[in-house]
Amino acid sequence: MKEKLELVENSFRQALAVTSDTKGLEALKVKYLGKKGELSGFMRLLKDIPNDQKAAAGQMINRIKKSFQGQLDDRREELKKVEFEKQMDSEWIDITLDPLQTHAGSLHPVSLVQQRLERIFESMGFQVLDGPHIETEHYNFEALNVPAHHPARDMQDTFYFEDGHLLRTQTSTIQIHGMENLEPPIRIIGPGKVFRCERTDASHDSCFHQLEGMMIDKDISVSHLIHFMRTMLGEIFESDVKVRLRPGYFPFVEPGFELDISCLLCKGKGCSVCKKVGWIELLGCGMVHPNVLRAGNIDPSIYSGFAFGMGLDRLAMMKYGITDIRPLHGGNLNFMRRFATSS
Ligand code: PHE
Repeated sequence: MKEKLELVENSFRQALAVTSDTKGLEALKVKYLGKKGELSGFMRLLKDIPNDQKAAAGQMINRIKKSFQGQLDDRREELKKVEFEKQMDSEWIDITLDPLQTHAGSLHPVSLVQQRLERIFESMGFQVLDGPHIETEHYNFEALNVPAHHPARDMQDTFYFEDGHLLRTQTSTIQIHGMENLEPPIRIIGPGKVFRCERTDASHDSCFHQLEGMMIDKDISVSHLIHFMRTMLGEIFESDVKVRLRPGYFPFVEPGFELDISCLLCKGKGCSVCKKVGWIELLGCGMVHPNVLRAGNIDPSIYSGFAFGMGLDRLAMMKYGITDIRPLHGGNLNFMRRFATSS
């Protein structure tokens, strides 16, 4: 039996040496130490050997069993380490690399003031409407009381398409869509891009943003207009802003006004943005012209209303102290990120 056991020990040692993974080790364990394994076979043979040799043979088998177990455990530890290192090699990541896209995006200053205004007006019961950039002459001019050949068409240099459509020059188009789709009482605002064939300078660009507003109900007067404008400006600038109302001509309102605020950039002293006058023309407003109400299928003998339209780029410049409109539209992300936490 002793010689046979030595043979088993040898074959175990050889098999162990060539086992290269933990799965193989399990198979070895079954083969040598399992219930039906080699050593159990020797145990069963014990009953056939003389009594005086039984104890020594049993001890020998047990010692071998323990030794096999120990060797298997040691080898398992070694192989686990090797397997772990292999896994580390294959799943390697370089934690020193600057991970891509970890910078949170930020809203454009114009979007920030637009969202702010939307919240202010929504809290006062206004509904936010959208409208198309490409319009017909009807929505951009005729329905707004500017018939063909009216000199007011020249006030806003217009980009026309060959088929007669145009890029809207003002968000006032949204007033007409709003009146067509809603029944009075109406409280709407319409923010969006507008386009004019303008020469670019510190305060003009051919594409800019406006926000239109309109309120229609019975007995609406200029005092309602002034109240909503004051509330809105106080909320947006979070301070007392000096306001000046001047008579102004817009074909779609009567009476019409221009609302100026004292230039917040130069504190009214005069700079390139306010063209050295200390005041910035912020918005046009007035009482909706009866012809415009009629164009929107609203009876001017029952209803009246006010409307206003303002430039959001100019408002953003005032609010964030930006002195030139061009970087606002330049797509320079470093410039935009300065306003990431502002609201
Ligand atoms: N649409 C006018 C503009 O672009 C602004 C305005 C809107 C004026 C509503 C009066 C009423 O200049």
